[in-house]
Amino acid sequence: MTRSMPRLKVRLAAGVAALAAVLTPVGLVTSADAGQNSTRTSVDAPLIFGHRGASGYRPEHTLASYDLAVRMGADVIEPDLVTTKDHVLVVRHEPNITSTTDVAQHPEFASLQTTKTIDGVTQTGWFTQDFTYAQLQTLRAVERLPDVREHNTILDGRYQIPTLQQVIDFAKRESRIYHRDIGIAPETKHPTYFASIGLPLEPVLVDTLRANRLDKHSADVYVQSFEEANLRALRRTYKLRVHLVQLTSAGPTARPWDHVASGNPETYAQMTTPAGLREIATYADWLGPDKAQVFPLAADGSTGAASPLVRDAHAAGVEVVPYTVRPENQFLPAQDRIGTDPNAYGDVLAEYSALFAAGVDGLFSDTPDLEFAAREDFLGYSYGLDHPEAKVQ
Ligand code: G3P
Ligand code: CA
Repeated sequence: MTRSMPRLKVRLAAGVAALAAVLTPVGLVTSADAGQNSTRTSVDAPLIFGHRGASGYRPEHTLASYDLAVRMGADVIEPDLVTTKDHVLVVRHEPNITSTTDVAQHPEFASLQTTKTIDGVTQTGWFTQDFTYAQLQTLRAVERLPDVREHNTILDGRYQIPTLQQVIDFAKRESRIYHRDIGIAPETKHPTYFASIGLPLEPVLVDTLRANRLDKHSADVYVQSFEEANLRALRRTYKLRVHLVQLTSAGPTARPWDHVASGNPETYAQMTTPAGLREIATYADWLGPDKAQVFPLAADGSTGAASPLVRDAHAAGVEVVPYTVRPENQFLPAQDRIGTDPNAYGDVLAEYSALFAAGVDGLFSDTPDLEFAAREDFLGYSYGLDHPEAKVQ
């Protein structure tokens, strides 16, 4: 999971090595040609970030979800990070594990149910920081969106909560198996909150990356945060050399939680102006905006022309990986919805196409296979009748 090119030229994913050989005359550079460990094209192309793995098809943040994401062509898999009571970094979208595990079915943990306020939101449930890692290992993941992705619920109760180390081990193993680099994009969740309870995420994250020899810019590692201060600290205090991704939200008044906590009035909207982006470039390499910051939503839920965000970020020297493309109608812009069932698939390929055309450098996606297909279209490859292999009788 270490790559030697600072800006990736697209790595063709599993199952397409033969296709790469076919396409070499029109611009592909194979691993042998390039002296790389993976097959690459000679044109820039957006990276596929498997959002929480392939969470459209598997309970999120499980090794099964990451495994499917890689098989579907993801270049990078995304573990969101929280911590246990004994300071083990584990992979969950939030510390409250009530809706993504079977913890409520474990009477031995009933006494750990509690109410906490995290980043201004009061919630009741079970929280990772009240469990030891050994205790968390006894739980199993369940589908977060059972009403939307009912098909995933058949896999409820099968998979454990992975640690960051297990995800790194997995990515290294998959990189060897598939002869291509599988990156990781760990996201520090609620860093100000976890520091406030004596369980900061950053020291363990840095130690883990260094122990795995991943603290270098050539590593396929993208550390994300919706906060600013911990990214600055990772770069300047910890001197971490991996790619850093400043995540931003679309709301007009939304602010990073560390800004709220410190009284800094700067909003995400201000951070994503040309001047704000130049400031981000002083400590981060990537911007991870809400896709609605690239294609703002009209009152009817449709999108029109792209905002200048991608152009402005590139002008500041920052690459752009928006989140999150999901295929169900309820997550798509109005013009891409098909029918009226909010849980049915719409024309998600149209949304991918629009975002690729807007110049993004990567996309977080719950369905890496569909992003892969859209990227093939974007690159001008075809699996249709005009494909060279289709002519073989
Ligand atoms: O990290 C990109 C995207 O995952 C941010 O949103 O809430 O899914 O972690 P979230
Ligand atoms: Ca995330």
